[in-house]
Amino acid sequence: MKRVLVLTGGGDCPGLNAVIRAIVHRASQEKDWEVIGSIQAFDGVLKEPTEIMVLDEKAVQDIHALGGTIIGTTNKGGPFAWPIKNKDGSWGEVDRSDEMIRKLQYMGIDAVISIGGDGSQRISQALFEKGMNVIGVPKTIDNDLSSTDFTFGYQTAVQIATEAVDKLKTTAMSHNRVLVLEVMGRYAGWIALCAAIAGGADVCLIPEIPYDIDKVMEKIESRYHKDKGYALIVVAEGAKNINGELVTKKSDEVGYENLRLGGVASRLVADLKEAGCPYDMRETILGHLQRGGSPIAYDRILATQFGVKAMELVLEEDFGKMVAYRHPDIIAVPFTEAIAKYNFVEKDSALVQTGRGVGICFGD
Ligand code: F6P
Repeated sequence: MKRVLVLTGGGDCPGLNAVIRAIVHRASQEKDWEVIGSIQAFDGVLKEPTEIMVLDEKAVQDIHALGGTIIGTTNKGGPFAWPIKNKDGSWGEVDRSDEMIRKLQYMGIDAVISIGGDGSQRISQALFEKGMNVIGVPKTIDNDLSSTDFTFGYQTAVQIATEAVDKLKTTAMSHNRVLVLEVMGRYAGWIALCAAIAGGADVCLIPEIPYDIDKVMEKIESRYHKDKGYALIVVAEGAKNINGELVTKKSDEVGYENLRLGGVASRLVADLKEAGCPYDMRETILGHLQRGGSPIAYDRILATQFGVKAMELVLEEDFGKMVAYRHPDIIAVPFTEAIAKYNFVEKDSALVQTGRGVGICFGD
């Protein structure tokens, strides 16, 4: 029997289970392959005792509609930076990648499919360079990977953010308030931009277009002086003002190396107050609601396409690649290309032009 190990790494995202199910279904069409899941990314393999599970058709029955991941995930540590406690109580890290590769050989693993964001793809590339047979599957609600037209999970997050804008609109109207919605996306403004267009927001602030608070004020004033008497602002967590300041949170979680973004909505409200905004203002941080729950149909389909393609690459022994969507095809790109550059919103892109065309102010 040949074995493929499947794992999900990084922040979760709607559609992960649909990928897992697709891999299992495609593998089960071959007589000699079985699928093993590693619990919480590579941690399942590295832990003693090992935490793995057999993924057969029964284990993945109907999971395509479920949010989260049935095999768990983590965005801390990993085989190259495994956290260890030093004698003085502080935390350090060790490289356990060679030990892990030996353990995978011992477990009879022939190939690995790693489903994850940019951090996971970088780990996959490094493991591939060490001789491991790896295939990558891109996931992130942020849609910030450049080699694929879309990542699954992103459209679901846009849908959730749009529904939030719709809901905020009725309460903003009732109270004649300025309501600010903060959405995720890290350094990319895709979720904010699309939710602002789909939800009919007045202002959209994204990392790619630093905002001038006076321009935002002008737009709010025009909304109050015309007819509506309320305003809706969608702000991406990575948005910066013209002085280039990111709003971040401290994290003391062991092994967590990402910069934690969050709180820009509160700062925006404070800045608007300081700039003389006379209207009542409230902020909402949508947070992890954007990553939870069932994937919409689009993401289930894309995730299923990625899972089938990933397993086919394993069967073809075409390793060192990440599956990607380039309309209308599902292709394979080398990891080196996949991680070379991020996918940011272009200031002059068609979507931004559309936003401007319907009167959205980007703060510039
Ligand atoms: O990358 C996905 C994402 O949801 C970002 O949009 C957000 O900044 C981050 O993950 C939050 O991560 P965590 O799960 O560590 O809170």
